[in-house]
Amino acid sequence: MIEKITQVQEEALQEIEKADTLELLQQLRITYLGKKGKIQELMSLMRDLSKEDKPAFGQKVNVCKDVVTNAMEEKQKVLSAGALSSKLEKEKIDISLAGEKMEIGTIHPLILIQQEIEDLFVGMGYKVAEGPEVEKDYYNFELANIPQDHPARDMQDTFYIDPETLLRTHTTAMQMRELEKANGQLPIKLICPGKVYRRDDDDATHSHQFTQCEGLVVGEHITLADLKGTLKYMADVMFGQGRQVRFRPSYFPFTEPSVEVDVSCPFCNGKGCNVCKGSGWIEILGAGMVHPHVLEMNGFDPEKCSGFAFGVGLERVAMLKYGIDDIRNFYTNDIRFLETFDRFD
Ligand code: DAH
Repeated sequence: MIEKITQVQEEALQEIEKADTLELLQQLRITYLGKKGKIQELMSLMRDLSKEDKPAFGQKVNVCKDVVTNAMEEKQKVLSAGALSSKLEKEKIDISLAGEKMEIGTIHPLILIQQEIEDLFVGMGYKVAEGPEVEKDYYNFELANIPQDHPARDMQDTFYIDPETLLRTHTTAMQMRELEKANGQLPIKLICPGKVYRRDDDDATHSHQFTQCEGLVVGEHITLADLKGTLKYMADVMFGQGRQVRFRPSYFPFTEPSVEVDVSCPFCNGKGCNVCKGSGWIEILGAGMVHPHVLEMNGFDPEKCSGFAFGVGLERVAMLKYGIDDIRNFYTNDIRFLETFDRFD
């Protein structure tokens, strides 16, 4: 009978020794130490023993139970530590691996130009005004000295929403809003960048939507020389130091005199190249002295004040500056085109 105990104990210790997973060990715990396990079975053998033999046998079985329990616990510790380290090994994160690249957008070339213009004018004390793209005929045309049936309306083929409402054809509409808002108060010094619309068939140089920036200064003793100095400074900042600025007579209903403004070609420094078509000059904007009638209509006395204004097309500036040859590139949003502008941030 005693041998039976030794046998169960040996067998248990061997199996515990061999067990290589926590699951197997749990299985062994049930087999040996469970309520219907082998050690419990030994206890039940006591029934058949004589009174004298019972205590010694019971003691032996208890020792056997302790030995097996201890062995189980020891093994449990070893296997748990092993399980933890293999879990750690399996779930290890290689922090030296390169991460996933975050795609970030680039600034649109028109916004780059707009920001550059805003910065340079804000630096000279101008404010930046913004206004509606859906505009009243009144601000777009009437106040700009372009009444009904004026031939200048044909130059700007217009998207009408109803007879009094349209998509603004130029940022000059904002010039009128700001003049009206100033209510005779001087001085006025502002720029107004924004989208404008004209009915046009889109091609490499025409787009039914484009971007302008209007400039307006009204005060005492403002002259054409102030306009020239201001535009020369803008040309130097936008196209590089040493630009020259040339005025050619032109016509706009809202300015008198009106000029078209050329900048000495930044590519050949005025010598003549294929960008300036050999002339050494590049036309960049329209400008002039605010027409006395416009001042009057907006509540200013043209005897006491004067002003200059200009309107520059941002696509044209961007095309010249970045060598873009098709205006549609700004609007078709080809990511390969847009991505090339990250170097200008
Ligand atoms: N509004 C004109 C255009 O869209 C541009 C322009 C010319 C604006 C002369 C002005 C200006 O303020 O004085 O063609």
